[in-house]
Amino acid sequence: MKLKILVTAGDGIGPEVTNEAVAILREVASIGGHTFDFDAKRIGGIAITTDGTPLPADTLAAALASDAVLLGAVGGNEFNSLPPDKRPEAGLLGLRSALGGFANLRPAFAFKELAVNSPLRPEVIDGADILFVRELLGGLYFGQPREWNRATGEAWNTMRYTRDEVARVARIAFQLAQKRRKKLCSVDKANVLEVSQLWRATVIEVAAEFPGVQLEHQYVDAMAMHLMNRPRDFDVIVTENLFGDILSDESGVITGSLGMLPSATIGGKVNLYEPVHGSAPDIAGKGLANPLGAILTAALILRHSAGLEAEAAAIETAVRKVLSQGFRTPDLARDNPQGLPVLNTQQMGAKVRETVMQLLARA
Ligand code: NAD
Ligand code: IPM
Ligand code: MN
Repeated sequence: MKLKILVTAGDGIGPEVTNEAVAILREVASIGGHTFDFDAKRIGGIAITTDGTPLPADTLAAALASDAVLLGAVGGNEFNSLPPDKRPEAGLLGLRSALGGFANLRPAFAFKELAVNSPLRPEVIDGADILFVRELLGGLYFGQPREWNRATGEAWNTMRYTRDEVARVARIAFQLAQKRRKKLCSVDKANVLEVSQLWRATVIEVAAEFPGVQLEHQYVDAMAMHLMNRPRDFDVIVTENLFGDILSDESGVITGSLGMLPSATIGGKVNLYEPVHGSAPDIAGKGLANPLGAILTAALILRHSAGLEAEAAAIETAVRKVLSQGFRTPDLARDNPQGLPVLNTQQMGAKVRETVMQLLARA
């Protein structure tokens, strides 16, 4: 197996967590005799500082020429006063749009070892296993017109979708539900927004192609509550860009930490892989970041871009094993009543890497 992986580590904890993910991918390649070629390019704040733009042309060219892109995170407080199109985040949005992936898969799985780390009661989250399918190229993020008119003191964005944009992401969500527990929940705000009425009507049309999947609809405000009250009732959740952004961070409460969540974006020219969390300026550079979201993202590269399912599963098993042995990063050690060993980013990466090596050597 040959794979060209572009690493755009970005800002803050991005480089810290992607280093650990890449080290594991290198190990998987060496054990299995695969050739993974890694290249690294700048994106986000570091690219603004060095190249004067959040998405340099050579980063974009390298991304388009790769088989998969692994992104860390972008953003930093020093860029917060820049207009949206000049900020680090614009680099990420430009990359997403150029790569063309419109279905952002964000699995949220409640490891039972982490139940005490969630503010929710263990019996509420035990067994929760949700797959968010977030539409990634439409809605308010990309809709025109958009503007802040300083003269008039008005600003506007546009939540726009076409029927085809909704249908293609709905189809992917139905297909994934078919392979899981055959339940799909579509989230919208159809009681208020025309764009959500189009969303709902289109999802209902696509449902006719998937008679084996049970479809329900929820309004996004109610969904924010249902997710915390009864997360185990949901299998696949499909929703538009901004709603998916918000609900997927909320699901970090179910998993015990935002630092546990991986993502894969499919459907375009090149798949894009990124943990759900951001650059975490509050903990950057201190070795406090949880690399497991990035490491689980590496597993998704193996699954969706390399067809190496056994190796992907080995990474996921290794994460579970390391957690069951009691190892934690600081975000996973809330109060730490049992006095579990708390590791830094590199130590946690090394634990998972060693465990992956053992699992793959045995196989
Ligand atoms: P954030 O996700 O960076 O952090 C939110 C909170 O979670 C912080 O307290 C942080 O310390 C904690 N956290 C996040 N990831 C963690 C990890 N792996 N281990 C331990 N703790 C972790 O969100 P924010 O603070 O709202 O945003 C910071 C910057 O990141 C902003 O510039 C934002 O735009 C950007 N951002 C980027 C991405 C991305 O690049 N994909 C995603 C979200 C936010
Ligand atoms: C995410 C992030 C991004 C988003 C930002 C950084 C552009 O919050 O990936 O969840 O809003 O999509
Ligand atoms: Mn987000």
